[in-house]
Amino acid sequence: MPGKQKDELKDKLVAALMSGQAPNPDFDWKVKYDGVHRDRQFGSAHALYSSMGIERSDKEGRMLAMLKNWTFFDAPHALFFTMDKYLNIMGAVDMGIYAQTLSLLMTENGISSCMQGALGQFPDPVREALGIPEERGILFGMSFGYADENAPVNKTRTEREPVENSVVFVG
Ligand SMILES: Cc1cc2nc3c(=O)[nH]c(=O)nc-3n(C[C@H](O)[C@H](O)[C@H](O)COP(=O)(O)O)c2cc1C
Repeated sequence: MPGKQKDELKDKLVAALMSGQAPNPDFDWKVKYDGVHRDRQFGSAHALYSSMGIERSDKEGRMLAMLKNWTFFDAPHALFFTMDKYLNIMGAVDMGIYAQTLSLLMTENGISSCMQGALGQFPDPVREALGIPEERGILFGMSFGYADENAPVNKTRTEREPVENSVVFVG
């Protein structure tokens, strides 16, 4: 979704967020991480905000940075991953594989992308803008384009867990 239509949707998404309305994602999504997942979430947020020069105590700065999710991080294009709601968790697995493959193909062609669960939080304006029927749900979105490599935010690097922490080798 490029250009004017994208900008109109951006305004509607920001308005939805600023209205204080609670997110109403199409799929069961309680974004409350526990334990090590919470630690990693904090770690990623810290890496992101540090690269942008935003202090931990700067609540307004963090809020403004978060808001950029709904302005597509100023990327020229955005897309949404949708699927029929009845497909449920296994459909979401397929969509994740699809999204990853798309992202890799884009990378291979010099196009940068950012997956965004945030883009599934307020599905109504997206549904209206793109004519998505009620029985089809919006899982998440992606902003993409040629990255400004000089932008501090694009220098963010998240940590990686050692492979031993996520894979069990047997035999
Ligand atoms: C399914 C999915 C949803 C994500 N949602 C968001 C999001 O809403 N906002 C955001 O800033 N980053 C989000 N991220 C993280 C970024 O897309 C990206 O992964 C992050 O900037 C770190 O880059 P890295 O994956 O190379 O470490 C999400 C990642 C995935 C895989």
